[in-house]
Amino acid sequence: MKIALIHGIGHQGSTWHYTDLICQELSKLGTVEKSEFFLPRDMPHFCTGCYTCFYKGEENCPHRESVKPIAEAMLAADLIVLTSPVYGMDVTGQMKALLDHLCYLWMSHRPDPAMFRKVGLIVSTTAGAGLGHTAKTMKNSMKFWGVKKIFVSSDSVSAMGWQDVPRDKKTKIEQDAVTTAHRIYQSVRNIEGVPNPLFRSIFFRMMVGMEKKNDWNPKDRIHWEENGWLSGKRPF
Ligand SMILES: Cc1cc2nc3c(=O)[nH]c(=O)nc-3n(C[C@H](O)[C@H](O)[C@H](O)COP(=O)(O)O)c2cc1C
Repeated sequence: MKIALIHGIGHQGSTWHYTDLICQELSKLGTVEKSEFFLPRDMPHFCTGCYTCFYKGEENCPHRESVKPIAEAMLAADLIVLTSPVYGMDVTGQMKALLDHLCYLWMSHRPDPAMFRKVGLIVSTTAGAGLGHTAKTMKNSMKFWGVKKIFVSSDSVSAMGWQDVPRDKKTKIEQDAVTTAHRIYQSVRNIEGVPNPLFRSIFFRMMVGMEKKNDWNPKDRIHWEENGWLSGKRPF
C-alpha cells in the first residue's frame, strides 16, 4: 500500500505518534511504502491569492516547486493521510496554507480522476477541545477532492506532548489504531466495492451542469471537456 502522509506540524508529537501507530498496524497487514511530508518544512509558503492555479494552471503557481511533490505523492498513493494537532480550535496554519494551495483540485475546479479511487485518513489530537472542527477542515478538502472513503482518528489526550499522555489514553489510541488500520486495509483492497459517497455523486452532477455553462474559466472547462465529463462520461 502506498501512503502519502502530510503532517501539519514539524515535530513528532502526539498526533504523529497516533498516526505512526496506525501505519505500524497497516504494515502488519501488508507492504507499506510511505511518502512523508512535514509542514512547514516541505511547503513553507502562504497562498498569495494570485489565481494563477485556477486560470493558468497549477504548474504556474509561484510555489509549485514545494506543492508539486506533495500533490504527486497524494495522487500516486492508495491512502492519503492529513494530520494536525488542534491549534486555536482548528488545524495549524501551515496545514491550512497547504490546503489553500490544493484548491485547484477541488471538484469545483479541476478534480483529478485518480482521487475518486483514494482512501483518506484524518488524524488529530487536542489537549481538550476542537477535534470536530479541526477534523472537518481537513475532511472538507478530501471530500471536495473527491476522495472515496474518509476515516477519522482523533482523540483528546489531555497533554501537551506524547510523553505526558496518560497510559489509559495511549491504550485507547492503540486499540483505535488496530481497528482503523484494518478498516483502511479492507477499503484499499476493495476500493471498487466501497459505495460511492452520495455527496460526491450529487456535487459532481451539479458541477457538470455548471461547467457546461462555464464561460468564466476556460482552464476548468477544458479539463471537464477533455475528461469527457461534459459529454456523458462518468469517472465513478
Ligand atoms: C498554539 C497552540 C494552540 C493550541 N490550541 C488548542 C485548542 O484550541 N484547544 C485545545 O484543547 N488544545 C490546544 N492546544 C494543545 C494541543 O492541541 C495538544 O497538546 C495536541 O495534542 C498537541 O499535538 P502534537 O503533540 O501532535 O503537537 C494548542 C497547542 C498549541 C501549541
